[in-house]
Amino acid sequence: MTEVHTVCREGEIPRGGRNIVDVAGRSIGIFNVEGRFFALKNVCPHQGARLCEGTLKGVTALDADDRPVLEREGEVIRCPWHGWEFDIASGRSLFNPERLRVKTYPVTIEEEVVKFAETYPVSVEDGMVTVHI
Ligand code: FES
Repeated sequence: MTEVHTVCREGEIPRGGRNIVDVAGRSIGIFNVEGRFFALKNVCPHQGARLCEGTLKGVTALDADDRPVLEREGEVIRCPWHGWEFDIASGRSLFNPERLRVKTYPVTIEEEVVKFAETYPVSVEDGMVTVHI
């Protein structure tokens, strides 16, 4: 069964930003990539570094004239220990995407929050970032 945890207000993580939270004993990085939110387990599958503290970057591709161009800026995280890179949205490794990935969690932005069965929905001015584990 999926557990749902409200972790912060949407506005607390600006575009290009991140927030590392502890949810039910797990360290999870929440990322705002151009207004889309993603959650990654904060453990690198190589040797266990706190992956979500790594550098955000893009990928280098070639344009039509074979010149290098930077694409998908801010959509890739680079592990702070040995530099392995992962797609934030899918959790997949850039060099071995079929066999190596980081656990991801669905993220939703909830306009109303129901905390307990006997309470009433509460409207908020700012959307709430909610992780489903
Ligand atoms: S621990 Fe992340 S690349 Fe080695």
